[in-house]
Amino acid sequence: MSALEQDAGGGAGGTAVAARPLLKVEDLRVEFPRGGRAAAAVDGVSFEVAPGECLALVGESGSGKSITCQALMRLVPEPGRIAAGSVEFDGEQLLEAPESRLRRVRGGEIAMVFQDPSSTLNPVFTVGHQLVDVIRTHWKCSKARARARAEEVLGQVGFPDPAARMKSYPGELSGGLKQRISIALALACEPKLVICDEATTNLDVSIQAQIVELLRRLKSELGFSIVFVTHDIGLTPHIADRILVLYAGHAVEEGPVREVLDRPGHPYTVGLLHAAPSLASERGVALPTIPGSVPPLGQLPPGAPFATRCPVLVAGLCDATEPGWTAAGPGHRVACHRFERDGTRGTRWVG
Ligand SMILES: Nc1ncnc2c1ncn2[C@@H]1O[C@H](COP(=O)(O)OP(=O)(O)OP(=O)(O)O)[C@@H](O)[C@H]1O
Ligand SMILES: [Mg+2]
Repeated sequence: MSALEQDAGGGAGGTAVAARPLLKVEDLRVEFPRGGRAAAAVDGVSFEVAPGECLALVGESGSGKSITCQALMRLVPEPGRIAAGSVEFDGEQLLEAPESRLRRVRGGEIAMVFQDPSSTLNPVFTVGHQLVDVIRTHWKCSKARARARAEEVLGQVGFPDPAARMKSYPGELSGGLKQRISIALALACEPKLVICDEATTNLDVSIQAQIVELLRRLKSELGFSIVFVTHDIGLTPHIADRILVLYAGHAVEEGPVREVLDRPGHPYTVGLLHAAPSLASERGVALPTIPGSVPPLGQLPPGAPFATRCPVLVAGLCDATEPGWTAAGPGHRVACHRFERDGTRGTRWVG
């Protein structure tokens, strides 16, 4: 189903879906060599992100969230390779673009924020130096123009005295402030798309909430799109318009955030909801984890990817044939035989 047909309302900000998606990923397949064969870390994943929209990529460790994001900018680490699919960004096919063009896109039109700000920030240089450097790399402007933009973006991410903050070294800042600087670096060149890969994962709960709120506010003020990667599905209503649930490199459920959270169709989504760290206090109970683990790369059995852990498995069907998509509501779809057969909503299936 195309994002064009979807009702994207119900998420944070209730962004209207524009005519053309900013990002359109189709049938993406990324492989790593395993035991003399090619094993898919991402298999047949398709999604769209509209201008100004936030799509959350959700799944446990090893579900293919980071590799999907890296593939968008052709940054899959060796010996991995993009084996199939297309990535259209703002009308341009990125997987076929020359490397020189990709260098301009990365950090310019598409920016990334990672879990660990130390991986982005250089401890040797001041915040101002690093911002000016990024801006001049992409904008080829004067130093004075770059400094003005650096101070402006520091103000946008919430520093009350940008001129003073320009002089700070990363080591002088707390984890939360460092992550704000990483966001300033990502936004410095006015990207159209910001990919946040577990950008709030290692922060204290209150700081995490502040960073999520900052991203949500900046997205609505500045109009960029976000791909928000998280293993915590409970964070998604605070920032995302839509969710794509990944399991073992496969998309298993997609839809508007409120619809997926209130009426999940896939048993894996239900498991993620039960195990979501940020929903634990609402439940007031210890976190149940989903029994079992994501199969190692290259060891996915036939049938539905989740079959080996599924509490509602239909023997002879789910362990034999991979399910296709079933419509579950406006813009909401589920890849599950059980859902297709019974239409049963997942909340009753687990726990
Ligand atoms: N450099 C690599 N070499 C070989 N396999 C890799 C490499 N990077 C990732 N993989 C494999 O690709 C699959 C998807 O990994 P990915 O890092 O995308 O997961 P993820 O969903 O981002 O997990 P996490 O929540 O832990 O960040 C995993 O099976 C992983 O082992
Ligand atoms: Mg990851």
